[in-house]
Amino acid sequence: MAKPLSLEKILFSQGFGTRRYCSDLVYADLVKVNGVLAQDPEERLSTEGLILNVEGQDWEFHEKAYIAFNKPPNYECSHKTTHHPSVYSLLPRPFIERGLQCVGRLDFDTTGLILISDDGQFIHRMTTPKKNIGKVYQITTPEPITQKQIDHLLNGVVLDDDPRPCYATACEQISEYVLAMTIVEGRYHQVKRMMAAVGNHVAKLHRTKIGQYEMPESLKEGEWCWLYPQDLNLLSKSVDAPHV
Ligand code: URA
Repeated sequence: MAKPLSLEKILFSQGFGTRRYCSDLVYADLVKVNGVLAQDPEERLSTEGLILNVEGQDWEFHEKAYIAFNKPPNYECSHKTTHHPSVYSLLPRPFIERGLQCVGRLDFDTTGLILISDDGQFIHRMTTPKKNIGKVYQITTPEPITQKQIDHLLNGVVLDDDPRPCYATACEQISEYVLAMTIVEGRYHQVKRMMAAVGNHVAKLHRTKIGQYEMPESLKEGEWCWLYPQDLNLLSKSVDAPHV
């Protein structure tokens, strides 16, 4: 069982500002703890199942934050963006304060599932290709997708910057112009370059799944949700990837 912590420290740990600021939030009657107005920033509390309410917003306590985000198009997965706004501008302020980072990146025009966390070990685990964690992309193409192209993707494609081929670990043709492809690596523009290498290209790219975790249908573009232990378990389930 986690050691009780002072309310001020808890608020600070969740990204609500400096300890002084967090203390002032309590004195200004802006913090509730499990539905009850807090009086004392030094009050020690168990963090287990703790629900805070800060300035009218409910906030679940999470020692480490793991969230799934449905990325809209025309946002960059970077703090220092070049041409488009940052995905971080769509997240609540406390996430920025506590240093959440995207787990890998999606291109500005790619949509769908991206994980965001402040757990460095988790970010590393989820991004190393050694763990064989599949990522499923739904690819819409301008040209019909042929069996020959699918076979080529499954048998391996050599891209121009690396002699090691990269493979689709699974391909499911959804329709003439839509393919669901699984890859385990995360090379630069990998899906777009693989599709170009087999003689087609990507008109739209949307990520639907990581490991065995599927983005919930209820999560609309621009929305995020907490990930719980059962979700993290699904995320880290690897695929049988004979090629890596
Ligand atoms: N592959 C790409 O080409 N782009 C992405 O955003 C993700 C994978």
